[in-house]
Amino acid sequence: MRVFFKKNFWIIFLQDLLLLSFCYYIAYWLRFDGSLTPATQRMIMATILPLLGIKLTCFVSFDLYRGMWRYVGIKDLINVIKASVSGSLLFVAYLAIFYHFSGISRGALFADSVFTIVFIGGSRLLIRLYYQRDHNFFDEIIFWRKAQKEATKVLIIGTGNLAVSLLREIRDERKLNFWVKGFVDTKSNHTGMKIQGVPILGALKTIPQLVVYYCIESILIADTGLKAKEIAAIIQSCDGLGVRFKVIQSLSEMIVNNVADNLRDIKVEDLLEREQISLDMQIVRAEIENQTVLITGAGGSIGSELARQIHGFNPRKLILLDNAETPLYQIDMELKSREGTTEIIPCIGDVRSRRGLDRIFHKFKPQFVYHAAAYKHVPMMELSPLDAVNNNIIGTFKLASVASKHQVSKFVLISTDKAVRPTSIMGTTKRIAEMVVQSLNGNGTRFVVVRFGNVLGSNGSVVPLFQRQIASGGPVTVTHPEVTRYFMTIPEAVMLVLQAGSIGKGGELFLLDMGEQVKILDLARNMIRLAGLVPDRDIKIEFTGLRAGEKLYEELLIDGEGVLDTAYEKIKVCNNANGFDEKMLYDALEQFNLLLKDSKDNEAVIEVMKKLVPAFHQDTDIHNQRTAKNFISVAPHSRFDFEETVH
Ligand SMILES: NC(=O)c1ccc[n+]([C@@H]2O[C@H](COP(=O)([O-])OP(=O)(O)OC[C@H]3O[C@@H](n4cnc5c(N)ncnc54)[C@H](O)[C@@H]3O)[C@@H](O)[C@H]2O)c1
Repeated sequence: MRVFFKKNFWIIFLQDLLLLSFCYYIAYWLRFDGSLTPATQRMIMATILPLLGIKLTCFVSFDLYRGMWRYVGIKDLINVIKASVSGSLLFVAYLAIFYHFSGISRGALFADSVFTIVFIGGSRLLIRLYYQRDHNFFDEIIFWRKAQKEATKVLIIGTGNLAVSLLREIRDERKLNFWVKGFVDTKSNHTGMKIQGVPILGALKTIPQLVVYYCIESILIADTGLKAKEIAAIIQSCDGLGVRFKVIQSLSEMIVNNVADNLRDIKVEDLLEREQISLDMQIVRAEIENQTVLITGAGGSIGSELARQIHGFNPRKLILLDNAETPLYQIDMELKSREGTTEIIPCIGDVRSRRGLDRIFHKFKPQFVYHAAAYKHVPMMELSPLDAVNNNIIGTFKLASVASKHQVSKFVLISTDKAVRPTSIMGTTKRIAEMVVQSLNGNGTRFVVVRFGNVLGSNGSVVPLFQRQIASGGPVTVTHPEVTRYFMTIPEAVMLVLQAGSIGKGGELFLLDMGEQVKILDLARNMIRLAGLVPDRDIKIEFTGLRAGEKLYEELLIDGEGVLDTAYEKIKVCNNANGFDEKMLYDALEQFNLLLKDSKDNEAVIEVMKKLVPAFHQDTDIHNQRTAKNFISVAPHSRFDFEETVH
């Protein structure tokens, strides 16, 4: 009934009333060649009210006044036909009953029903045409000056449903002020054809010419089937043309939001080939819901995303541990502003402090621990092996043994691909940390390791660095023209970590399939292009040389020997990573302990690491760099109570 209170209802209703009267009268007028006798005129006057009553009732019952006529489609027009035919048939029945067809012209009745369909349907179409006059013939004439002066000339890439919906939204949403000059075909060649009056101008390879010819200012990508490499190639082909790029998310999101909210700038992630990750989050929920979870390094890139995603599974308590106050404060504030019943407990603390950890575990009794606290910067750790050992190995040992002592149900160590055949101090300390937790498995706590490669945009990674360098006018620094890295987004990696953690029974080392490696030079060039600039012309690229401990490419060994599939395509398990001598490990831990306490000898600590991880090999001049820079370790190295923590 609410429809009757709308102004638009009454406008359209009145319009239909006039059109129906007009159709009826004109049908008779044409039937009798423009000369209506007084008897016919009296008959028209006598029957027009029943006609209007019957037909308008049919229109209401066929919902002709509920549609948004600016969006009229085939279905709506079929509805108009149904309502008009039903109305005409009922009116014929009325005339048969009350007039026995005396004085009634059957030809005029037939013409009236045809006119009703044409005029009522046509009026709806005109409403739509009015709202979409942006690119229609009359609009071209009336608005061409305004459009030329003010509107942004755009090309839509794609000719599928998404592209057509985008065109429709642009026409309806006039404040977007886009002038769609044409479509670009991504699959078969339909050049020359038109979609809703807008021409398909060419295929992908013609984009640069189209941009120049039609003075295109923005390109809107509306084809979710386009591969990241194809998007990157389009952007590259428009180097120097000053065109901006936007991408539309997906049809389903356009239905929920409007087009303006879903058109966004292209992000560097869009240019990296990444498959959609589909996971079974029910298992994760079943494990975490209503439990107490502790995350170390919760202020960091991985730790804070773990906190966000775990919070979504509604744990009873979420303990956020970090020794850096500001990032911890930020994630604490963010989670506390969310809805939910989870108690958020921020703890300033250090995984190197066994006593502090004991207090936290005693007080909050966590059932799950995600250990993401670490020193991760490769070149810096080359200069500070003692600190790397202290934080990444001894810190992990203390945390893992306290977790074991307090009968934590599951402990997940976040590791890195740099632990594979390590060439750096950082990578080697992470490999030894993996050994530490694997050695503690089986005493009540299930210890699981998840190893993965670089994530996009984490603290100190190349993406934020390149962004800063581009913003300040360059140069962008790349270590080596051939250097490649794996890239996954932080949320994707964390989703996989949670999934791997949930299927771990204890003792496993999971590897995440990171997809293809990306050339850092290509990434740099594409980021410059995304900023609307031309690589090597507007922003220079400088090669600085591989840094200490840095590899040309990272290895994850997902295709290596002993690597098995799991139920999840992107998660592999390595079943021969436990091949180490536990006695050697504990001897090495004892030696680290002594070196940290007494001699603080960086080179001696490296010798111990080399014995334990024979695959570890270092660049020869790193030693010289370390001694030349005279780097000293000032972090506190508390001797850990070795006897107490070894089982
Ligand atoms: N970022 C990546 O691309 C990536 C990829 C694979 C694996 N990883 C691994 O994930 C882990 C976390 O990486 P990130 O990128 O989140 O690093 P990050 O530097 O952003 O976060 C680490 C956090 O740990 C905290 N922390 C460090 N030492 C601590 C200590 N002793 N006690 C308490 N808190 C401490 C830091 O304050 C920081 O907030 C590292 O082990 C790293 O090797 C990272």
